[in-house]
Amino acid sequence: MKIQATDTRPLDWSGDCLGLGFFEEAVDLQAFNADPDRLSLLQDLVNSSEFKGKAGETAWTRIAGSSPVRFVILVGLGKSEDLQLNHLRLAAAAIARTVQKQKCKTVGMHLPTWKQDKAQSAQAIAEGIGLALHQDNRFKSEPEGGQTNGLPEQVELLGIGQQLEAIKTAHQVCQGVILARELVAAPANVVTPTALAETAGTIASEHGLTLEILEQKDCEKQGMGAFLGVSKASEMPPKFIHLTYRPSGAAKRKLAIIGKGVTFDSGGLNLKTGGSGIETMKMDMAGSAATLGAAKVIGQLKPDTEVHFIVAAAENMISGHALHPGDILTASNGKTIEINNTDAEGRLTLADALVFAEKLEVDAIVDLATLTGACIVALGNDIAGMWTPKDELAQELTQASERAGEKFWRMPLEDKYFEGLKSPIADMKNTGPRPGGSITAALFLQQFIKDTAWAHLDVAGPVWTDKEGGYNNVGATGFAVRTLVNWVLGS
Ligand code: BES
Ligand code: MN
Ligand code: ZN
Repeated sequence: MKIQATDTRPLDWSGDCLGLGFFEEAVDLQAFNADPDRLSLLQDLVNSSEFKGKAGETAWTRIAGSSPVRFVILVGLGKSEDLQLNHLRLAAAAIARTVQKQKCKTVGMHLPTWKQDKAQSAQAIAEGIGLALHQDNRFKSEPEGGQTNGLPEQVELLGIGQQLEAIKTAHQVCQGVILARELVAAPANVVTPTALAETAGTIASEHGLTLEILEQKDCEKQGMGAFLGVSKASEMPPKFIHLTYRPSGAAKRKLAIIGKGVTFDSGGLNLKTGGSGIETMKMDMAGSAATLGAAKVIGQLKPDTEVHFIVAAAENMISGHALHPGDILTASNGKTIEINNTDAEGRLTLADALVFAEKLEVDAIVDLATLTGACIVALGNDIAGMWTPKDELAQELTQASERAGEKFWRMPLEDKYFEGLKSPIADMKNTGPRPGGSITAALFLQQFIKDTAWAHLDVAGPVWTDKEGGYNNVGATGFAVRTLVNWVLGS
């Protein structure tokens, strides 16, 4: 599939399918200068479908006869004053899905421009198309719907200029999101800690990043007792992945991104039992998938910011080597942790990763993790939690996420709740009481940061979806890749 942009006006365009975007207050077909026949056909479509241009609304019709276009799709964008960049991604995705179902080969799309920024608009539209049409056939013996499965051959974005750079960037962003999706969707017998390290190696060699892997012995030397405690019961060796992007000139800023990389979370001896969703726990490395996805994009966009991508990758399993509930571990900053629940393992892996990141003397650290079910209870499946003591970092991330179309909600780092983590025998326990479970998890992480600006993102909800919607397909969404990329570029 090739995506191109041109200045062609929609009604001068000919091909299989024309997609037209309209604002709610202006479903004005005359603006398209159509010939009378086409105009009345479009008007019939608007009337019969009661198309009002509301956000997310679509209507389509086939055009019989020898028309230069054989299919028209209308897509609503809501009120023009409410237009967000992500509405363009969603509108493009809606057109792309219909195009695929109708097996149209050549497609023209005319959507409005966000804030008169044609480049950003073209990029968002191209991302919407690329992400909606991505399908993962790696584990099927026959690709669903055959080799081409209705994918269009050519898509033209109309009336928006050439936008070569924007379309290239969109392609690179899609590659990063798709890498994250595919890492999360692949089962735990495929994506092991070693496989994550290999993926980091591929990114390093393809895009010129440097890679350091700390093996178990190296982690022992660094005193990473919390991380190693988690991986103890597994047959799979742990891998501490440190991938670095350095700009060719002086770095404006130094950042670290840490992703939880638990390739399978059985719960350990506090085993996840019936109804706990243990069969979905291959996705417990989604934070690391977003981290590596972002690394792949950053490696290509080459901003003048240094970025460290860090994953403490391990499996949380059971065996004779497993952590006993009640064990006490010592993290690499010397703090001791009483393990009152082996299923609160993500924070243990992150603890040592945070200490490692802070030693790199970066300006800011962001960690992402499928950390708690409690965060899903609090915010549902579409919104991730954000914890940070620094308002400025919260603002940077919020801005980055809005343009990405990814939702985060800032949550409180309520010091008082740390009482729930007090241990009579060690510096802290790894688990607090059930109420406020995502907050105590964040407070636990904060113990491993001294004074660097830090934010914790709990992405347990939005990294996976059970229903197709917008540009997401069923399964892994690749959530947070775009937010991370925007954050680094804006930094
Ligand atoms: N990986 C889970 C969190 C999770 C749950 C992610 C559901 C995605 C969907 C995490 O390791 C975990 O097990 N958390 C426990 C913490 C508890 C033991 C304090 C939880 O949320 O139940
Ligand atoms: Mn767990
Ligand atoms: Zn987990």
